[in-house]
Amino acid sequence: MAYKVPFVDPRTHYLTLKQEIDSAITGCLSQGDLVMRRQLREFEANLAAFVGVRYAVGVNSGYHALHFSLLGAGVGPSDEVITVGHTFVATVSAIVHCGATPVLIDVRKDYNMDPDHLEAKITPRTRALMPVHLNGRVCSMDRILAIAQRHGLAVVEDAAQSLGATYMGRKAGSFGTAGCFSFYPFKILGGFGDGGAVTTNDPTVARMATLLRYNGEDRETGEYHHHGYTALLDNVQAAVLDVKLRHLVRWIEHRRTIAERYRQGLESIPELKLPHFGEQEQQDVFQNYVVRTKRRDALRQHLTASGIETLVHWPKPMWCHTGLRLTDPGLPETESICREVVSLPMSAETTQEHVDLTVRAMREFFQMTNDE
Ligand SMILES: Cc1ncc(COP(=O)(O)O)c(C=O)c1O
Repeated sequence: MAYKVPFVDPRTHYLTLKQEIDSAITGCLSQGDLVMRRQLREFEANLAAFVGVRYAVGVNSGYHALHFSLLGAGVGPSDEVITVGHTFVATVSAIVHCGATPVLIDVRKDYNMDPDHLEAKITPRTRALMPVHLNGRVCSMDRILAIAQRHGLAVVEDAAQSLGATYMGRKAGSFGTAGCFSFYPFKILGGFGDGGAVTTNDPTVARMATLLRYNGEDRETGEYHHHGYTALLDNVQAAVLDVKLRHLVRWIEHRRTIAERYRQGLESIPELKLPHFGEQEQQDVFQNYVVRTKRRDALRQHLTASGIETLVHWPKPMWCHTGLRLTDPGLPETESICREVVSLPMSAETTQEHVDLTVRAMREFFQMTNDE
C-alpha cells in the first residue's frame, strides 16, 4: 500500500544525497577499496570524534557491536548482565551469546532503564550493566555509573537508537566501558544495509572488537588471538556512512523540529502521552516519536485507513516469545508499554505537511477539533 505519509522514505533520502553517495561508492569501487581501507579508517576516526571517545571500531551490525563489547568487557559463561525488558531483542541475544544470563529490569515512563530497580538485582555473579538509550534519549547515566562503580561493574551502553543524543552535555556511547551503535538503514545514521560500531576509550575493548570482527586475526602479524567472527563493516558502507555523518547534526535538528510540531498538535489530547520528558539533562534526538494510548490498536487502524504508516516497537514482551527461552521477569511497565505504544512517522524526510496530516487524523480519531 502506498501511504500518504510513509513511516520513512529511503528513496527520497537517497535521491537527496545522490551525488555525494554515488561519488563515495564509485570512489571505493574504482580504487578497489573494498576491505578495511582508508574509507573505513576515516569513518571510524570521524565517528569517534563525533561521539567524543578515543576509538570507534566499525562492525557489520549493532548486534555485533553489543556482542563484542560484552566480550571485551570480560563477560562470559556464569556471569549475569542486567539490562531492560523493553528493548530490541538483539540487546538480550548479545548477552545470551556470551554464555551469560540476562537479568531484565523495568523502565521508567521515558522508556529508559529505571535505576531504582538496579541494585536489588545485583548479585555476586553480576558482571555488567547494559543501559539502552531508547528512542533517541540517553538514560540517567550519573546514577547508573555511580551504581556500576560502587559494585565494580562494566557498563555497556546500547546506544543503537541514540547517536548524537546527550546527557549533561556528553554524547551517548561515551559514558561506559563501551558504546554500541547500529547503522541499520532506518537508524538516525543509516547505511544501505546493516552496520554498527563500538565506541570506547579503552584500548583493550577496541582491540578486542578489532580482532573479533575479522576472525580473531591481528592483520599486522597474521596471528589469530581468538576464535572470532566474520563481522566487518564493509569499506563501501563506511564510505557512505562517512558522507551521511556530515549531515547528521542537521538531521537531528530536523527531527527536533518535527517532534516539536507533533507536540504542538497533539499535547491537548488527554488520552495521549507524548515523548517529551524534559530537556534539562537530556537532549533527545527522536530516533522514534513514540506516543502512548490505551486505544492504541484502534488508533493505528484509523491512521492506516487515513494513509499514515505507523509502527509498534514491540507488540509483546520478549519473554512471551517462547523460542527465546526467557523467564517472565514480571515487569508491569514494560508490559503496558507493549500494549499502548505506537511510533509516528519520523525521519530526515518527514515534512511539516506529513506531521499536519498525521495530527489531523489523530485529532479526528480522538474527536478533537482544532479550535479546542
Ligand atoms: C535498541 C537496539 N539495540 C540493538 C539493535 C541491533 O542493531 P542491528 O539491527 O544493527 O543489529 C537495535 C537495532 O535495531 C536497536 O534498536
